[in-house]
Amino acid sequence: MVDYIASAGLRGALDDIIQSMNDGFNRLIPCTEDPRSKLINAMRYSALGGGKRLRPLLVRATAALFDVEPRAVMRVALAVEAVHCYSLVHDDLPCMDDDDMRRGQPTTHKAFDEASAVLAGDALLTLAFEILSHVDTHPDPHVRCDLIASLAQAAGHNGMVGGQAMDIAAETSQFDLRTTTRLQQLKTGALIDFSVEAGAILGRASAESGTHLKGYARDLGLAFQITDDLLDAEGDPATTGKTVGKDAAAGKSTLVTLMGLDQAKNQAQALVSQAIDHLRSFDAKADLLRAIAQFAIVRDK
Ligand code: IPE
Ligand code: IPE
Ligand code: MG
Ligand code: MG
Ligand code: MG
Repeated sequence: MVDYIASAGLRGALDDIIQSMNDGFNRLIPCTEDPRSKLINAMRYSALGGGKRLRPLLVRATAALFDVEPRAVMRVALAVEAVHCYSLVHDDLPCMDDDDMRRGQPTTHKAFDEASAVLAGDALLTLAFEILSHVDTHPDPHVRCDLIASLAQAAGHNGMVGGQAMDIAAETSQFDLRTTTRLQQLKTGALIDFSVEAGAILGRASAESGTHLKGYARDLGLAFQITDDLLDAEGDPATTGKTVGKDAAAGKSTLVTLMGLDQAKNQAQALVSQAIDHLRSFDAKADLLRAIAQFAIVRDK
């Protein structure tokens, strides 16, 4: 198969989106000298502390299939990344995964305190909707409403938060393959789905294109989470930037514990091929999306 990671220049695209996200968050969350400074610093720490910025890149790569204004793309990318960063801050809390390291640095509640981490997460979540509702995101209020509704759904009880609740339940219940797949689809897949869908909303994609992109995002999201679980099972903490072996220690059922390492790897590979297959009606403009799918399972962090 073609190596889209090289041919589509994925590394450069990742460097570029990292820079754009850091610039954007620096602008949206400036330092303050007032009594909120601890909260603001915790927000900045959580939003600016690294990360692959894969969801923002998905927004950009999907929007690139259509003719979308760059400022709109960037604002939507910042919104989804703000929700993602909040989800990580809360995921790491002692009442959730109780993690000390994230993106190679102490987790937000370790660097600050639990209250600041909870509030920084809350504020990043609401910031996302503030960004989307602003007229700078799109001149058409219907488009803004579509984006808001779609992100709300992806983030809430029918999306990421619902998946996180199932993930906690997976520590004490033995879920079957079907339920575990649903868990992954919600906790990780939903925000990945939104990132692709948002590009399609901004691009006013046809129903047919939208269906193909949905199929792509669904397979990519599952492959991405299987790889996250594989990295937890056999990754290097110096590279992943987070503690490994947590899922096994928590007795958590994941696709890796259910299938075993080899089958999980085969499954992730099959999902990537399927994801790329969904893009067959798109020309070379979709090569960056194809590269992201390949990257999702070869990444080491
Ligand atoms: C980690 O997401 C948590 C999951 C939803 C699997 P990423 O692997 O995208 O984390 P960062 O943003 O690059 O740190
Ligand atoms: C977290 O999944 C997914 C979120 C919604 C944040 P994990 O708990 O497996 O993510 P990591 O491994 O801590 O990054
Ligand atoms: Mg978790
Ligand atoms: Mg975790
Ligand atoms: Mg994990």
